[in-house]
Amino acid sequence: MAIISYPVQASGFMEPPTDIEKRSAATGALKFVKDNSTIGLGTGTTTHYFILGLAELVKQGINVKCMASSIDTAMKAESLGITVIDTYPDTLDAYFDGADEVEPRGSLIKGGGGALTREKILAYNSREFNVMVDSSKVKEKLGNFGVPVEVLNFGISFTISNIERLGGKCNVRSDFESDNGNPLIDCYFGEIDNPTMLESMIKRIPGVVEVGIFNGMTKRIFQGKGKEYVLKEV
Ligand code: A5P
Repeated sequence: MAIISYPVQASGFMEPPTDIEKRSAATGALKFVKDNSTIGLGTGTTTHYFILGLAELVKQGINVKCMASSIDTAMKAESLGITVIDTYPDTLDAYFDGADEVEPRGSLIKGGGGALTREKILAYNSREFNVMVDSSKVKEKLGNFGVPVEVLNFGISFTISNIERLGGKCNVRSDFESDNGNPLIDCYFGEIDNPTMLESMIKRIPGVVEVGIFNGMTKRIFQGKGKEYVLKEV
């Protein structure tokens, strides 16, 4: 683990501590953007800081093409002059995204913003997945944050019953539709002892599109610590 400090840009107003840490984590991750690369962009407030920084790098002349994990991210990136592609490369050089929870071995809960399916597709198809989090997201075990599960609307009550049989308490997210046109269920299991097993048990329920548990994909974790960040290689 290396602690690296960097100057937080003055934003003209008092930033909440978690926002400062999100910015710190994003600043660390930006150092791993390579010239002439194709990268994936996540979704959410932490990725927002990454996109702002990436736009600065683009202005300075770095050449990157990006695949976006959500319509929101694509619009944000394009509006800042970042090239967003919709043709699929063989692989992405890197993927950069936030997380709702991360545990020491790099397993994650993601999907608080509802973009988990596209996020998982990009993370899986990247050479490296760089996760950026503020310190409130770092846990010994996953599970305090409900596991977001994207499902088909068809048969949703069957799908909920099947998830509840695994021990999850399910809340259908209200007034929500994913970029894929699907509803999302937030599933509370309490502390998750075996994220890999839980992911695969939920994934095999018919009607489940994708599960917001990401296992075995993380390469680096950038954890904001005040105005600094800690880099952990998984
Ligand atoms: C989006 O669907 C999520 O997976 C986000 O990456 C996650 O919720 C973290 O979001 P924040 O960076 O906004 O906390």
